[in-house]
Amino acid sequence: MTANEIRAKYLSFFQSTPRNHVLIPSAPLVPENDPTTLFNSAGMQPLIPYLLGQPHPQGKRLTNSQKSFRSQDIEEVGDNRHMTFFEMLGNWSLGDYFKKEQLPWIYEFLTKELGLDAKRIYVSVFSGNENVAKDEESIAIWKHLGIPEDHIFSYDAKKNWWSRSGTPEKMNAGEPGGPDSEIFYDFGEELHLHEQSPYKNEKCHPNCDCGRFLEIGNSVFMQYKKLADGSLEELPQRNVDFGGGLERLNAAVNNTRDVFTTDSFSAIITIISKATKKEYGKDEEETRAMRIIADHMRGAVMMIADGVYPSNKQQGYVLRRLIRRSMLYAKKLGVWGDWGFVKSLVAPVAMQYKSAYPSVLEQQEKIETVLVDEAGRFGKTVEKGLKEIEKMETVDGKQAFLLYETYGFPWELTEEIAVSKGQKINREEFEEAFKKHQALSRTASVGMFKGGLADHSVETTKLHTATHLLHASLRKVLGTHIGQKGSNITVERLRFDFSHPEKITPEQLMEIERLVNAAISENLEVTMKEMNKEESLTSGALGFFVEKYGDRVKVYTVGDPNGAYFSREICGGPHVSFTGELGHFTIDKEESAGAGIRRIYGHLEKSNENNATVTASLSSK
Ligand code: ALA
Repeated sequence: MTANEIRAKYLSFFQSTPRNHVLIPSAPLVPENDPTTLFNSAGMQPLIPYLLGQPHPQGKRLTNSQKSFRSQDIEEVGDNRHMTFFEMLGNWSLGDYFKKEQLPWIYEFLTKELGLDAKRIYVSVFSGNENVAKDEESIAIWKHLGIPEDHIFSYDAKKNWWSRSGTPEKMNAGEPGGPDSEIFYDFGEELHLHEQSPYKNEKCHPNCDCGRFLEIGNSVFMQYKKLADGSLEELPQRNVDFGGGLERLNAAVNNTRDVFTTDSFSAIITIISKATKKEYGKDEEETRAMRIIADHMRGAVMMIADGVYPSNKQQGYVLRRLIRRSMLYAKKLGVWGDWGFVKSLVAPVAMQYKSAYPSVLEQQEKIETVLVDEAGRFGKTVEKGLKEIEKMETVDGKQAFLLYETYGFPWELTEEIAVSKGQKINREEFEEAFKKHQALSRTASVGMFKGGLADHSVETTKLHTATHLLHASLRKVLGTHIGQKGSNITVERLRFDFSHPEKITPEQLMEIERLVNAAISENLEVTMKEMNKEESLTSGALGFFVEKYGDRVKVYTVGDPNGAYFSREICGGPHVSFTGELGHFTIDKEESAGAGIRRIYGHLEKSNENNATVTASLSSK
């Protein structure tokens, strides 16, 4: 059975009676309406408002295969089962069916539709804590289905509680989560007995991580919401959020514990193997390098297909890292300077997804060009880095880290070159610097999740304030039905999605732009006040993602806070102090962003730019 067959079987199983789910498309890898995170990393992510209670236009039973990317797993890639990009098969009950339907259905799918060996299935459930009881109901259902008692394990919240942020303590206010029941497939051999295994003195169990068990699915019973005071509240509806990694299911179905030997990766591995003249599976380090190249290049292709370009910021930076790491691992395997190699890895990915995601094949040439350009640029950087190393008398750990930061050189590469030239090198120092760097980037990503903006540079701050002015102006020109549906800000531009049933006329656009610029030229003061959520709403502040906020919120007002202000919104900030700092605002584009949703792109210019450009740029739209 191939990955395409497994995906098709799953989707038709959940669409068929009596399950009657509606098939929804995969959202793009880059979330459209959620600036709090770089990538969709689970099928539930685009569905958060609906899990919290907003009615979904397609009903209460949904299914799809979601393109997912987990950048936190980059360093893990190289073993038999970790990937950055993967597909997550998902089915959801939005306040409809619950445990006694979900567990038998998924069990039927695995054992009957995929033909997995029931004897090799293990499951886990939540063991309970002071607030939420042990999941006895799931245990009873699994037993009823014939799972023997010694295949049913219970674990605490670290393993059997799921939310985007992890355990209940880590959940953000307003975030949904709940206990879950995971399904594992047993590959028999107790790898934890291996000398190197951190588990070697323990008894093996489904969460042992030694590689004997592979997690192939997870049913989350999403029935709680975190409150600002730290407690959990029952959601008005009990949801099911199932996710199963397609590549891992493919491994289980084909009875291999290595996802890279399934057809999800075989074509790309074959090309890597030919180009590097290395045999997959022969040497541990070489196999690891081949897996990294295959995973990273597949992820890079999928990202570019979804509109990401290599850069030093956000998604673009992750893409750049994927490409660079792949190239350096290829270098380790003896391929360097031949950018045709990078290009040759696009076709197998495009072909793999030609029916599920045809836009990849449609954009094959563009993807190849982006990759080859980036490879060429990085090639030059590496050459420069090599010259730097040659000049160095010694390469200590700190210098090795500098090479990592400046040229993207991983430790292994620097070590190889330095050692070959007889220079001394200290791994501990490097690792210390590296750990500091990781702690910093973790703090940055936590900040991002909380604040919504990845970087608080002057440019993004200005565009953030401009977004508030745009939002207020849209409401003044088009009406108060306008509500924010999404916002995405980069250093260059703002993007704002909002509810509106029809195309906006050029005249309306000009008026909106004029109002924003009028507010800028009046140099209005921007003030912030913290208040209770209730208070903020009665103050007239707009807050369209109210569920996401805690009890105390910040309210930003542009203009006289005690009089006729221009804009007032609940928002985490940051903002400029006076609108005069923004410079001239231009709307670049207006387009549809889905049914009943419009999207505007705009940017800011320096304040001395000629205002006459406004009319000219609008009439050419
Ligand atoms: N959202 C759940 C997961 O990612 C299904 O495991």
